[in-house]
Amino acid sequence: MKLQSKVLGEMKGVKPIPMLTAYTCPVARGLEQAGIPVILVGDTVGMVEMGFDSTREVTIEHMEYHVGAVRRGAPNTHIIGDLPYLTDSEPEIALVSAKRLLAAGADSIKLEGPKLEVISHLVKSGIDVVGHTGLTPQTAKNFSKVGRTDADAKRIQQEAVDIQSAGTFMLVIEHVPYDLAEKITGALKIPTIGIGAGPHCDGQVLVINDALGMGDYWPPFSKQYAHVSDSILEVANTFSQEVESLEFPDNIIRLSNAGEK
Ligand code: KIV
Repeated sequence: MKLQSKVLGEMKGVKPIPMLTAYTCPVARGLEQAGIPVILVGDTVGMVEMGFDSTREVTIEHMEYHVGAVRRGAPNTHIIGDLPYLTDSEPEIALVSAKRLLAAGADSIKLEGPKLEVISHLVKSGIDVVGHTGLTPQTAKNFSKVGRTDADAKRIQQEAVDIQSAGTFMLVIEHVPYDLAEKITGALKIPTIGIGAGPHCDGQVLVINDALGMGDYWPPFSKQYAHVSDSILEVANTFSQEVESLEFPDNIIRLSNAGEK
């Protein structure tokens, strides 16, 4: 059963929220089967699937394509669509972009940073919005932890409060000191979803490729539950050897299939 934003909001303090990203139909299908309550189609797709160096290369058309694929794989799961770089620069531009992701299959949208006017315009227009503070990769100079100085921690804490006041129903907190995420989580009414933000958030999100061990770099705060890149290499090597040695396709299977026709 698909959880609406209100129900996700009510999970704060009741049940930790597991969130994973997905970009493709078969992965989304697996996440839905596992009962993951909320899937984020993040603009990380640009880095982990498309080979770009930053998320800034991702367009609204890319996101529509991936949101559509994930929706077809997970028809009964809440899907958050990420607004890519510059598609949320002003309230009206953001509204057009958000409507495109909703039309592609998203239930709610996420945007980075304290764009308070944009958030309240979307919320007033009836769109459920997820905020994102701490490290915000679309505008960050690098991917280091933020909020380490008192001043930066205060700025992020205030941002979190303002983003909530603008009407978001959930907040992603990325790569900040654990005690800062704990303070923010305690101060907000909406659930916080941490990534590299420690154990005190109301939920946790991982980029699916990091969780699968698919790629050649994984952030230190992520966990690899499998090693899919190793499996790809093994499959490709074995296939190649079997084709070269004429072991595949198997002669006997080929002949018996031909006989059946
Ligand atoms: O784009 C994304 O996948 C994200 C997560 C890292 C939270 O924003």
